Amino acid sequence: MEPLPETAAAGSRKRRRRGGGRNRRKPPPPSSSSQAASPPSPPVKRRRGAASAAAKGRGIASKPTSLLEKMRARLSGGHFRMLNEKLYTCSGQDAFDYFTNEPDLFDVYHAGYQEQMSHWPEQPVNIIINWLKSHSALWTVADFGCGNAAIAKNVKNKVFSIDLVSEDPSVIACDMAHTPLEPSSVDVAIFCLSLMGTNYASYLQEANRVLKPSGWLLIAEVRSRLDPNTGGADPNKFCEAISELGFSLVSKDAKNKMFILFYFRKKEKSKVVKNIDWPHLKPCLYKRR
Ligand SMILES: C[S@@+](CC[C@H](N)C(=O)[O-])C[C@H]1O[C@@H](n2cnc3c(N)ncnc32)[C@H](O)[C@@H]1O
Repeated sequence: MEPLPETAAAGSRKRRRRGGGRNRRKPPPPSSSSQAASPPSPPVKRRRGAASAAAKGRGIASKPTSLLEKMRARLSGGHFRMLNEKLYTCSGQDAFDYFTNEPDLFDVYHAGYQEQMSHWPEQPVNIIINWLKSHSALWTVADFGCGNAAIAKNVKNKVFSIDLVSEDPSVIACDMAHTPLEPSSVDVAIFCLSLMGTNYASYLQEANRVLKPSGWLLIAEVRSRLDPNTGGADPNKFCEAISELGFSLVSKDAKNKMFILFYFRKKEKSKVVKNIDWPHLKPCLYKRR
């Protein structure tokens, strides 16, 4: 797998920490030659020190600290966007290998993801949680690409939470194209903004394998990925491919600004269609805010 430009957030955090330490150290006294070569710097240093002392006295952060904070935020925003792009442009197996080697990056990704989500007027995961609450608590649920496992934390159902990294013993860490779940063992399979890999069809095939006949398949996807006017896939083709896999579309909720939510049910019996024409789902890349 190709190395990423900022491979280790942990590493970069260490570098930042070391850098910060160096900056706090007192600089050595300038040699006479450097004094001669440089413009008169002592007054500048005194002004900075005075300003920061005054700021400290007033109980407010001095300018360099806030600049540093801004730079840190920008850096972690950059890390998030890089990881997000990575997830949308590699296979599930590559993503699994990548995060298994660098599990700290999972936190970097999710901190950035939560920040992005905080700007959405409605989050699809909440709609799914409410939908589950309005149905049988006896249903077994599989949450494919569970993130912070919000579904398992908010419903009474038995939930298999699946993601690339497990920071909680209840989360199964795997590439969701190959889960350890038994065939025909779950009543509801959920993909909430998680059809990210280039091989997304194999995640839906896996859901088909583990779902009971008549089981539900809920898919929430970013609107732009399914908007042909902006280079996204044709939603009808997307639904057609899923119905060829063995599902019927029950309803589609397209009233939300940022995402579309599909409710499918697995057919009791279906003919196996070979060579399903899966439309390409373009990556959802977040802009710098
Ligand atoms: C955009 S986040 C959404 C998280 C959660 N479903 C929510 O709505 O808050 C997508 C999640 O899918 C996970 N994911 C992507 N590809 C995966 C794969 N091949 N196997 C397991 N998890 C995957 C990512 O790690 C990430 O946590």
